[in-house]
Amino acid sequence: MLWKTVLLLALVSQVLVLENGLLRTPPMGWLAWERFRCNVNCDEDPKNCISERLFMEMADRLAQDGWRDLGYTYLNIDDCWIGGRDDNGHLVPDAKRFPNGIAFLADYAHSLGLKLGIYEDVGNFTCMGYPGTTLDKVTQDAQTFAQWKVDMLKLDGCFSTPEERAKGYPMMAAALNATGRPIAFSCSWPAYEGGLPPKVNYSLLIDTCNLWRNYDDIQDSWRSVLSILDWFVDHQDILQPVAGPGHWNDPDMLLIGNFGLSFEQARAQMALWTVLAAPLFMSTDLRTMSAQNMDILQNPLMIKINQDPLGIQGRRILKEKSYIEVYMRPLAGYSYALVFFSRRTDMPYHYRTSLTQLNFTGSGLHEAQNVYTGDVISGLRTETNFTVVINPSGVVMWYLYPVRKLGSPQQ
Ligand SMILES: *[C@@H]1O[C@H](CO)[C@@H](O)[C@H](O)[C@H]1NC(C)=O
Ligand SMILES: *[C@@H]1O[C@H](CO)[C@@H](O)[C@H](O)[C@H]1NC(C)=O
Ligand SMILES: *[C@@H]1O[C@H](CO)[C@@H](O)[C@H](O)[C@H]1NC(C)=O
Ligand SMILES: *[C@@H]1O[C@H](CO)[C@@H](O)[C@H](O)[C@H]1NC(C)=O
Ligand SMILES: *[C@@H]1O[C@H](CO)[C@@H](O)[C@H](O)[C@H]1NC(C)=O
Repeated sequence: MLWKTVLLLALVSQVLVLENGLLRTPPMGWLAWERFRCNVNCDEDPKNCISERLFMEMADRLAQDGWRDLGYTYLNIDDCWIGGRDDNGHLVPDAKRFPNGIAFLADYAHSLGLKLGIYEDVGNFTCMGYPGTTLDKVTQDAQTFAQWKVDMLKLDGCFSTPEERAKGYPMMAAALNATGRPIAFSCSWPAYEGGLPPKVNYSLLIDTCNLWRNYDDIQDSWRSVLSILDWFVDHQDILQPVAGPGHWNDPDMLLIGNFGLSFEQARAQMALWTVLAAPLFMSTDLRTMSAQNMDILQNPLMIKINQDPLGIQGRRILKEKSYIEVYMRPLAGYSYALVFFSRRTDMPYHYRTSLTQLNFTGSGLHEAQNVYTGDVISGLRTETNFTVVINPSGVVMWYLYPVRKLGSPQQ
């Protein structure tokens, strides 16, 4: 009897393994929440309210302004789209704000080479009080999303118990799989359990979700960026090993283009999120973005590093008394991303170090490209001393790669 149960459990856990083949690199795109929240007042604010129009206009920008071609392909709806349930219990969008329905929006996104993401909540209500996906509705809602040709689901955790979440997230993973449609699955589950073991089982999350929110919602301020960064770094021994192709930690959206970050801080968030192998979800008004912010978000070398095929999350490797920190992410081709980050608030800091001091070994020659300026620093041996000048609350970011010895055979 016991053996039968054990066998059955083994089979069940086999079935739950998430092998949807999606998100081999961190997802990139646009997500409505941080910038547009639950603005449902289309009478007074028709350009910015959560509506079909907003998503279509963002889709146009993603397709026309270079975003899509750089990899920013997800157009993701967050809370406040739901109108209710019909007589058969099917979810329906708000009829006034989404008059053509979600399938129409998905078709529109697909016609532009984009993907559509949607939002629900595993509890009685969404965080803003719209109808949730209670356990009895999981299968039906998964089928609805698949029927609409949705490509990603963010499943929030408001108004649910820990037991409901423990049942609901794996149940939704299985229900999405059963639809036969590849739908990337973003789980807010760990954020509701404090983000850490023993309450959070990261092996189980890897088997259940493609990405997960570990910690608090980001707000439009540098303080919020720092609080999230601090939490991720404090727990990097737990979090760093669990990220990889198909399963990512999500420190939440990029604020770049909004109101809370200075130029240096915007560059810093982009660089730090990139070394953390974080999803790059912009949440900003793409219709009014400055050229300066666009340069930060559309930096090809930055994106190449974020999307590195090895999918290894970086770590903070050094915290100096001078309030300089060094972050490192290993990349394909024996390359690395290095981020020199200043938490100072006085003036540009001349930070002197060497690869040896950063624990690089070997006698090989390296070259580095400054990711933001494009400058190339050549002739770097491990013992070479160099200086980077880091602005307050800013970064210097390097792409560091080995240089082939002259005359040695090409790989
Ligand atoms: C469902 O899961 C199986 C393996 O468990 C996988 O082979 C298949 O591709 C998945 N299908 C979808 C649509 O995610
Ligand atoms: C969800 O609703 C049910 C039925 O009204 C109620 O019993 C339960 O306490 C609610 N759960 C939460 C977490 O609010
Ligand atoms: C975590 O979940 C995995 C299944 O994915 C399971 O094998 C393991 O026993 C769980 N660990 C704990 C501590 O519960
Ligand atoms: C370098 O290695 C030493 C010894 O293992 C360790 O104490 C130090 O923290 C490391 N420094 C960096 C920057 O990784
Ligand atoms: C680099 O600087 C250190 C002192 O910080 C010094 O001991 C070392 O000799 C210098 N190395 C080179 C190659 O100049």
